[in-house]
Amino acid sequence: MTTANNMPDNKHEEYEIDTLTNQRLLSNHEYDGIRELDNDLPSWWKWLFILAIVFAIFYMVRLWVFRADDLIQKKEFDTEMAGVNAAKPAPTTEVFEVKILTDSESLAAGKETWTKICSVCHLQDGGGLVGPNMTDNYWIHGNKVENLFNTVTNGVIEKGMIPYKDQLSQKQRLQVISYVLEEIVGSTPANPKAPQGDLYE
Ligand code: HEC
Repeated sequence: MTTANNMPDNKHEEYEIDTLTNQRLLSNHEYDGIRELDNDLPSWWKWLFILAIVFAIFYMVRLWVFRADDLIQKKEFDTEMAGVNAAKPAPTTEVFEVKILTDSESLAAGKETWTKICSVCHLQDGGGLVGPNMTDNYWIHGNKVENLFNTVTNGVIEKGMIPYKDQLSQKQRLQVISYVLEEIVGSTPANPKAPQGDLYE
């Protein structure tokens, strides 16, 4: 080991050159025979450090001096919320009215639902299978639009009629019962099921 004092660096007045590896060793830092090397920082690290400082200066100036919108969380939040609110549809004041629909578009949509879902139990022509005959004027739960709407919405679970409030929208439910009342009631099914319920005139 030799002691070198001829370096202009005065941070570590004294370091030693390791005779084996030729590397600088700190002379005043030894523990249990273990010595620390006096290496320079890698240049990539130094540059990263300098760039971080430069970035921080720009950032602080933008944030505190120019109060840039995208850096201020409150402003950023307000901007986002304004966008969300603008995208929301205006609240509708329309009240849903349970009233029979007679336009051909609604009846066609009702028929589609009937064919897809209801016909399994009530048959396509409404003659009845698991569910009652819909073509006659006998009704278990009443023959008013509201009665039918209520049955389709809430079902009669214990008798096997499924509630459709989650599966069909209000409009779809109204369309399908309109189809029943307009086009199935009074028609002649191939195999009518015996009447159930009370006769309504
Ligand atoms: C899983 C079989 C099944 C399906 C599917 C079904 N129903 Fe029913 N429905 C029944 C049964 C069973 C009853 C009889 C309930 C009772 O006895 O109270 C019934 C009763 C009804 C009633 C009341 C009839 C009355 O006499 O008061 C209406 C209206 C009705 N269903 C409409 C529909 C519509 C509309 C659909 C399709 C969206 C549908 N049902 C799908 C089985 C079904």
